[in-house]
Parts: sequence; C-alpha cells; structure tokens
Amino acid sequence: MKGVILAGGTGTRLRELTKVINKHLLPVYNEPMIYYPVRTLINAGIRSILIVTDKRKAGDFLRLLGSGEEFGARFTYGLQDKAKGIADALLRARDFAGNDKMTVILGDNIVLGESAWLNDRFKGNCKLFLKEVPDPGRYGVAVLSGEGKLVDILEKPSNPPSNLIVTGIYQYSSEVFDIIENLTPSGRNELEITDVNRELLARGGVEYEIIHNQWIDAGTVESLYEAQEMVRRFLKDGEPRM
Ligand code: DAU
Repeated sequence: MKGVILAGGTGTRLRELTKVINKHLLPVYNEPMIYYPVRTLINAGIRSILIVTDKRKAGDFLRLLGSGEEFGARFTYGLQDKAKGIADALLRARDFAGNDKMTVILGDNIVLGESAWLNDRFKGNCKLFLKEVPDPGRYGVAVLSGEGKLVDILEKPSNPPSNLIVTGIYQYSSEVFDIIENLTPSGRNELEITDVNRELLARGGVEYEIIHNQWIDAGTVESLYEAQEMVRRFLKDGEPRM
C-alpha cells in the first residue's frame, strides 16, 4: 500500500494567512498541519509516501519534510502547476503508484488517534471513510439506501440528506487514474474528487467505513481554530498521538 498526500491548492478560504505560507505549513497547535496526515499514514504502516504540492511552495515542503528519514518513511514529491482540483492533484501520483493500491489523504485533514483501520483489506477499487458531523453542507455528503448501501455522494449540498460526510481519506486501486483522465471539469473548472467517486460508485464495488476518531478539515479560518483546540485538548488529556 502506498500513501499519497494532496497538499496543493491555493488555500483562498484562509485569506491573509496563505498569502505567503502554504496552508499545509500553517501551525495546528504545536506542529505544521502537514505533519498530521503524514503521521496518519505512517501510524498505519504506510512508509512510501508521495506529497503533491503547488510548484511555487515545493521548496518549503522539501525543507520541512526532507527525505522522510526523520519520520522513518520515504517521501517522494509531486508538483501541481495549477490548482485544478483534488482529482487533478491525484493524477500526479500515477507513476508513483504504478499498479499498487494507495491511501490518499487531503493535506488539511486532521485525524487524531490510531489509524490502523487503514490496514483493513478492501476488495474492490475504492474504499471511502465516512464521519458523522454537525455541519455536513461543507462537505461531500453520503447518501445511503435503507439497507445501508452507499448509493450517491452530493458535493456541498444546500439541503444535506444526512450528517454522514465523505472525509478526505480515500483508498483506490490504479483504476482511479483512467477515471480521472476521462473526467470533465466542473463549473469552477476543477477536476472534482466527488465526480471520481460517483463514477466508481456507478461501476460498483465501492466500500465504506465510518470512522470514530476525532477528525477535522482545517481548511477554513474557523475550522483551523477548532483544529488547534482539538489537538490541544487531545494532548492535554494525555493521550499520545502516535
Ligand atoms: O475534507 C473533506 C472534503 O474535502 C470532502 O468532504 C469533499 O468532498 C472534498 O471535495 C473536499 O472538499 P474541500 O472543499 O475541503 O476541498 P479543498 O478545495 O479545500 O481541498 C482540500 C485539499 O485538497 C487541500 O488542502 C489540498 C488538496 N488540493 C485541492 C485542490 C483544489 C490539491 O492538492 N490541489 C487542488 O487543486
């Protein structure tokens, strides 16, 4: 299993904070944001990790993370020339992944506690990790059938059908790359990960698991602040993060 962290994009929702510094290098309490997805992968035993980032800030990531030796891992770097969407960033992982399965995590997704659940085998081409949240309209929202089957995903709907959202943690087989290559850009001219997942759903064989860890997407001013509090509480409660 290979790991991919997507840390491109422009971070415009963080406004002044990301004028000079890439969003994923901002502090979340006592560490840079990117350390969290890195550890989530490493704690699950995933040691070969590609970090995809924006070409203008790549040097900062190299200086911070280096070869991965300090983390007991091996880091490879991929570049996204323009912020053309999460799926576009994932396409940069094609050569790195080869025919291996991969765990993909968005660079602003912070998961606390153990992540051994990433090791459960998935048979098909995709596994999604869902989480119940109070504000689903900010995310990709899962639509489940009466039997609990995942039947659709709605990206940032104004009337969310449930509180169950699709986190930015995804597992794929290499089939995902063919889907991305044939994807049409959305209205905001991005290749959307939700469109990729909907296509996989249409083909069948998408699994899901509901996670119970504390989780947050730290991509807005408000949620970055909440993330700091969440981590601070977690560390103060004496639970080791590793
Ligand atoms: O966090 C979970 C949510 O992430 C999902 O529920 C949504 O379905 C999914 O679309 C995504 O929504 P966001 O609005 O939070 O995505 P955002 O544009 O903030 O991008 C999240 C991360 O993806 C970002 O921290 C870095 C990476 N990214 C994003 C873009 C647009 C890239 O690497 N390149 C990009 O071009």
